[in-house]
Amino acid sequence: MRTVEWDSTKNCIRMIDQRLLPGRFVQVEFTDYQQAANSIRDMVVRGAPAIGATAAFALALAARQSKADSINAFKNEIESASRVILNARPTAVNLAWAVSRLLTKMQESKAQDPGQIKEVLLLEAQRIAEEDIETNLRMAEHGAKLIDDGDTIIHHCNTGALATVDWGTALGVIRLAHEQGKRVRVLVDETRPRLQGARLTAWELERYGIPYDIISDNAAGYFLRNGAVQKVFFGADRIAANGDVANKIGTYMLSLAAFDNHVPAFCVAPVSTIDYELANGSLIPIEERSMDEVLNIQAGGEAIAPKGATARNPAFDVTPNRLIRGIVTEKCVVYPPFEKGLKEIHKL
Ligand code: MRU
Repeated sequence: MRTVEWDSTKNCIRMIDQRLLPGRFVQVEFTDYQQAANSIRDMVVRGAPAIGATAAFALALAARQSKADSINAFKNEIESASRVILNARPTAVNLAWAVSRLLTKMQESKAQDPGQIKEVLLLEAQRIAEEDIETNLRMAEHGAKLIDDGDTIIHHCNTGALATVDWGTALGVIRLAHEQGKRVRVLVDETRPRLQGARLTAWELERYGIPYDIISDNAAGYFLRNGAVQKVFFGADRIAANGDVANKIGTYMLSLAAFDNHVPAFCVAPVSTIDYELANGSLIPIEERSMDEVLNIQAGGEAIAPKGATARNPAFDVTPNRLIRGIVTEKCVVYPPFEKGLKEIHKL
């Protein structure tokens, strides 16, 4: 089952409502592109590649909704819808990448009939979703070679099937290593404040039959220092041209502790997550979300701080490239110096 998909019978986007997992498995459908954009903002769907595919389907939906009868009016509507979608979340570059792929298709099309361009946009969105799965499988093949039989791995956030259209990035690597018969155990960072690790990664690992233990994020340093961990794996929301990685908040502290204890930290991400326009990680926009996510156990749930308490809630941080042993992409594993390596794979 896919995290996000297009239903061509109902002409709608269908996605798993990740806010309700692991308690309830519910799929929701959207026929309005603004609602689809809200589903990204509200984290019904989350994870950089899944956000990218959703954004593409949302723009295809905006095209279907358009009543414009002239080609220029239609194109203007699509461009304004693209701005709404782009504003949903700022850090994952896959969102902008997917929207720009569709806009380029629209601009290149010689069609003078909006109906034809609607088809072109939907086809491109479907292609993005299909490619995501193939890309993940290729990354898994490269990445699984880095995992040895008997490894215990710390994994941060959720980077599995739920964070992509299917299969996953960093968790996809671990999943393939497990399927290859390697005995792996995962220490699952719970990933405060949204608990993507405890709620979503653990849910996936249960389904795959991979042994795991959930740890509080604060415990990662303890396990890295006492020799219990052989590798650290995480995904990325945006990688700068020099290999600095923006990923879920806490990735930086985890990578520091791994580096200090000579445990290799690997980032797994598709080439679409590399932002060649940004020279280094300090230029990556970091989303700051509502303080409610920190002040309550779950959004709208039990408060864990006194009334009137305030909080800060950056959703991502940047791990400098020097703390990362390798970046696994669908093309190959890139090793330092990253600036050179990432430039080379751009040409492949
Ligand atoms: O806020 P989220 O849940 O969208 O953040 C997700 C992450 O940080 C993932 O690690 C990243 O998107 C890579 S997932 C394939």
